[in-house]
Amino acid sequence: MEQFIMKGGTPLHGEVVIGGAKNAALGIIAGALLTDEDVIIENLPDVRDINVMLEALKEIGAVVERIDRHTAKISAVGVTSVSIDDEYIRKIRASYYFIGALLGKHHMADVPLPGGCAIGSRPIDQHIKGFRALGAKVEIRNGCVQAAASEGLHSSHIYLDVVSVGATINIMLAAVLAEGRTIIENVAKEPHIVDVANFLNSMGANIKGAGTDTIRIRGVRRLHGTTYAVIPDQIEAGTFMCAAAATRGDILIKNVIPKHLESITAKLLEMGNTVYEYDEAVRVVGAPVQHPTDVKTLPYPGFPTDMQPQMSVTLALADGTSVVTESIFENRFKYVDELARMGSNIKVEGNVSVIDGVKRFTGASVNALDLRAGAALVIAGLAADGITTVRDIVYIQRGYEHFEQKLQALGAQIELVDSEREAQKFRMKIG
Ligand code: EPU
Repeated sequence: MEQFIMKGGTPLHGEVVIGGAKNAALGIIAGALLTDEDVIIENLPDVRDINVMLEALKEIGAVVERIDRHTAKISAVGVTSVSIDDEYIRKIRASYYFIGALLGKHHMADVPLPGGCAIGSRPIDQHIKGFRALGAKVEIRNGCVQAAASEGLHSSHIYLDVVSVGATINIMLAAVLAEGRTIIENVAKEPHIVDVANFLNSMGANIKGAGTDTIRIRGVRRLHGTTYAVIPDQIEAGTFMCAAAATRGDILIKNVIPKHLESITAKLLEMGNTVYEYDEAVRVVGAPVQHPTDVKTLPYPGFPTDMQPQMSVTLALADGTSVVTESIFENRFKYVDELARMGSNIKVEGNVSVIDGVKRFTGASVNALDLRAGAALVIAGLAADGITTVRDIVYIQRGYEHFEQKLQALGAQIELVDSEREAQKFRMKIG
């Protein structure tokens, strides 16, 4: 089993280049199914979830050519099946985007229902509500979502009861080829919603309002091929921003859209850190003593739930008491028990954590329980005195490309090892 082993206590210094946004790319890959022409996607992160999505496309008959590590060419003209299923696709939530895309193009889809996961129960009732409003019959049978619209999809006025990233993207995917005008209200406004809409518009779709509360789509008969570059990953960037603050380092984070990072920047500034914003970069200089602050996760432009664990680790090293409220997922504080092994002082009551900052963490053996919790524990390990091992890093690899290499380039003493012998060698090397 691969694990990260690290010796903490060294401030991170230097430059890091951020890759493409995983959660935008997942929607975009599914969107490539909507045309018979070639789609070239650039700036794709080379991470597990993306690679699983690309493999799934091949299974239903699409041709996927990896032009280079971050560019893929997809031709969906040969898609012969609307039924997707394998053990890997069942493990990734974004498999639900195949329902919207297959329904939009082929008027049928049969895709496994993404199960619950470590961070919460994660229903997809709003996705289904949208598909039904567009005229599809949707049933859950044998663990799969089976959707069909024999007459094709038609215009609709849909109001989402909860603000959902997944439902917003999925309904857009289904509606771009539907007849007439679809209006979706109370939609999510995350940067990746805008990116998927821009991608679909570059294929000839007519989507207006992405990034606001209401999206208006005028259905078109067909979509054409495109070449499209995915936006930079807001959460990967935010993770390195917290790594700079928590280790009291100084990192220039390149290839970002600073506007997308504003909520994270605001919190780091409140804590007394320095953040410089450039056109396509931010630099974070961690203050030696940092102030506590309160954080509440909210849909964009609020503070992202995907940054809650990394920010909590940073706050756990501040001088005072912070309160963090998680309002998106009910189960996103499980890492707190792992962090406690490193000496943190955090109490959780329902969806609120009260963090009493400590001066230092000490190294320990901990488990990555999900993607962002795993990244947060790595930050904790790099800020801690002594040696930390983070196990189950397969979660981290779902969303961070060469995390350890990027950290090594910033001066971190971290290795990816896959045996106790290698771990032992690392311990000997660093003394
Ligand atoms: N919700 C419903 N019904 C639905 C859909 C969502 O009740 O039909 C609820 C959820 O249970 C949750 C809230 O609405 O309480 C928001 O969920 P959302 O649909 O926005 O989340 P998601 O689409 O399942 C995506 C990202 C997550 C990220 C969230 C929130 C992908 C593949 N996943 O999930 O990313 O946390 O949006 O921004 O895009 C990650 O990258 O680590 C990750 C978990």
